[in-house]
Amino acid sequence: MAIRTVREVGDAVLTKVCREVKEMTPRIDQLIDDMFDTMYEYNGVGLAAPQVGVLRRIIVVDVGDDPRVLINPKIVETEGTQTGDEGCLSYPGKFGTVTRPMRVVVEGLDRDMNPVRWEAEGLLARDFCHEIDHLDGHMYMEKVEGEIHDVHEMEESEETEEADEE
Ligand code: NI
Repeated sequence: MAIRTVREVGDAVLTKVCREVKEMTPRIDQLIDDMFDTMYEYNGVGLAAPQVGVLRRIIVVDVGDDPRVLINPKIVETEGTQTGDEGCLSYPGKFGTVTRPMRVVVEGLDRDMNPVRWEAEGLLARDFCHEIDHLDGHMYMEKVEGEIHDVHEMEESEETEEADEE
């Protein structure tokens, strides 16, 4: 188990376009293990390779109990829209409202470098969009509607609301 350092906003690595993976190597295999370990360590639901400083087109996602890695991922179909809150391990303590497709179809390669095509809806669809954006140097803050909020402020206002009700 190896937790890698998560790069944060302001780090130039997060603005670069990542390169495709041509073949599975022991190094990339290890990177994928470390990406899962790092995502779980920080309670994330997704992570892209540039977030740990590696400019390769690899993402990991897990919105519940379904860990998946997708190599050279592409969104090939979208349908509908959903508007909801999003955060990023590379911008800790913040969140903002972003509109994404409600449903996507993604294509790419699995860990054995076999082609896969997956449909995703709701949170998983949002997750794929967010992580794939990272591979082209984009972050959710570019798409936020309205203000970017502090997680801490939200917790405080919830506490105040609870206090008001008493
Ligand atoms: Ni992110």
